[in-house]
Amino acid sequence: MNPKRRPIIAGNWKMNMTATQARELASKLIPLVASVKDRDIVLGPPFTSIASVAETIKGTNISLAAQNLHWEDKGAFTGEISAEMLLDLNCRYVIIGHSERRQSFGETDETVNKKVKQSLKKGLLPILCVGETLAEREAGKLNDIISRQVTGGLKDIQASDMQKVVIAYEPVWAIGTGKTATPQQANEVHALIRQKVKALYSAGIADGLRIQYGGSVTPANVSTLMAMPDIDGALVGGASLKPESFAALVNFK
Ligand code: PGA
Repeated sequence: MNPKRRPIIAGNWKMNMTATQARELASKLIPLVASVKDRDIVLGPPFTSIASVAETIKGTNISLAAQNLHWEDKGAFTGEISAEMLLDLNCRYVIIGHSERRQSFGETDETVNKKVKQSLKKGLLPILCVGETLAEREAGKLNDIISRQVTGGLKDIQASDMQKVVIAYEPVWAIGTGKTATPQQANEVHALIRQKVKALYSAGIADGLRIQYGGSVTPANVSTLMAMPDIDGALVGGASLKPESFAALVNFK
């Protein structure tokens, strides 16, 4: 953590939580994090639960993220959701290019980039996810993969928009596996991402960029991760599904 950058703790609920369950989770969470002022708190429900969470968290210090969007404004795209639909429900962020979407739903650097551009054009803040698989890491391709995903995801993004972008580093082998990257391993990749952004833009932009770590973050390991100089937040799956554990993450010391 670097005091210059405001920490951002986000829950990615994935395909969990009906609208009813989501309302209950959000209402239990509100009092547990109400006193937090110095960090951003974000919940990422599935599309069908966004409205109920939006209503529940109105006027609180919690904001909303969607887990995906389509890159076109509207039209004949059966099953897709537009930026305007998300903005209408008070979404502030949108998670883009999560490894589950890249692996199971055919997302590529190109489609990820279109989504990042669309979110910025419409006024949503993108959380751009990058991360290598275990096979890629073991084959010594870590730097190449991360560079390719960062460069591809940010293609044609103007410097003036970069303060709205959050990057999430999520090593695929650490997601939902209970195998967290060590704080050192994670920080090394965060530093690499920052280096890449510096080369693409400037030292100032790289310095201001918030980079979240994701992959088996829990209340037990969040503090050591957040103590690292290049880790500015967490994108949390499993541990965000219970109000007590997500509150403990938000309240990390
Ligand atoms: P996890 O998921 O915390 O359950 O490992 C993280 C993510 O996929 O964003």
